[in-house]
Amino acid sequence: MRKTFSKAAVCVATCLILAGCGGSPASTPAADESQAEQTTQTSATSADEQAQGIDYLALVNKLNPLPDGWEDSLETVHMTNSVGDDVEVEKKAYDAYLELKAALEEEGVHVDLDSAYRSIAAQQKIMDDFTQKYGADYAKKTVATPGYSEHQTGLALDLYLNIDGKDIVMNEDLVQYPEVWEKIHAKIADYGFTLRYLEGDEHITGYGYEPWHIRYLDDPAIAKEIADQGITFEEYKAGKVMPEVSYDFGKSDLYTAEELEEAAIQAKCEFATFEGCELHNLRYAGDECNTKENLDWLNSLDEGAKYTQVVELLTDFHTPVEGGSAWEADTEMKDYQWWLAREEGKGWQLVTWGY
Ligand code: DAL
Ligand code: ZN
Repeated sequence: MRKTFSKAAVCVATCLILAGCGGSPASTPAADESQAEQTTQTSATSADEQAQGIDYLALVNKLNPLPDGWEDSLETVHMTNSVGDDVEVEKKAYDAYLELKAALEEEGVHVDLDSAYRSIAAQQKIMDDFTQKYGADYAKKTVATPGYSEHQTGLALDLYLNIDGKDIVMNEDLVQYPEVWEKIHAKIADYGFTLRYLEGDEHITGYGYEPWHIRYLDDPAIAKEIADQGITFEEYKAGKVMPEVSYDFGKSDLYTAEELEEAAIQAKCEFATFEGCELHNLRYAGDECNTKENLDWLNSLDEGAKYTQVVELLTDFHTPVEGGSAWEADTEMKDYQWWLAREEGKGWQLVTWGY
């Protein structure tokens, strides 16, 4: 059986909705050094739910929503930050954060928690605020669709800085301290965190650079592997799930090998969610895919899109031995299609796949 997906059908909201992180757009809170951090209660979950636990390596991004039942298994703690806000965090992530914070303090770097766990409603509120204050373009690069935000996992932490006794909370101010972020980023992997939204990797992560947004993985070895390779979590996940993939980008007069590889990473990241499927080969279909007809088709699938270039990738893969999820069991799929497109000056978008 063939399984066909369209980004437009799978997550219509992805193109429409946003959710932010970093400093609150509504106001810049006043500095209040005297207010100590406090930890309060743990959220309630049943013994059964807690036993199942959460997958600390779950990938949540524009294409992959929060896994079903996540919040039933999530255990959080509440803390109060230096500006008096209540921040809710997954409990192991919070313990690791406290260790990171202490280690940074020894180097004279002072951080605090601006935001961690966010409910769908909280994410929607931030989306609305950002859109109103900064406009839709900035909001799109900065905020995630409710239901598709890593913050809903409780494992994503937005840090803010205290420089010379003053709290620096707003995004536009935080980016003024690259040398401080460098020190912070050099330390996070030791405590099991990874920097999620790297500079220059917007085409992979879907978001602009966010030096403040770190994600707990509960495994310093994996976090270090990601940091050492200088890759995104998306690339790490794709590589882990598909270590034996062969690539053939052939010859293209339209795209460089690097551009095709960027498109391939997106297809691989989505493929990573095909449970039990084993990817064997991924290749470029050739420059003849970049036709007006295909552009019109992809533009019609993504409301408001103005794509100017198309890439079609083909994959061969094996379906799960036991079948499931509408796949025919134990079958080799040939020439499964992935359609990506990009607008002038922008990165590839995975628009539809299957067929
Ligand atoms: N800032 C990240 C993308 C979020 O809102 O989840
Ligand atoms: Zn964030």
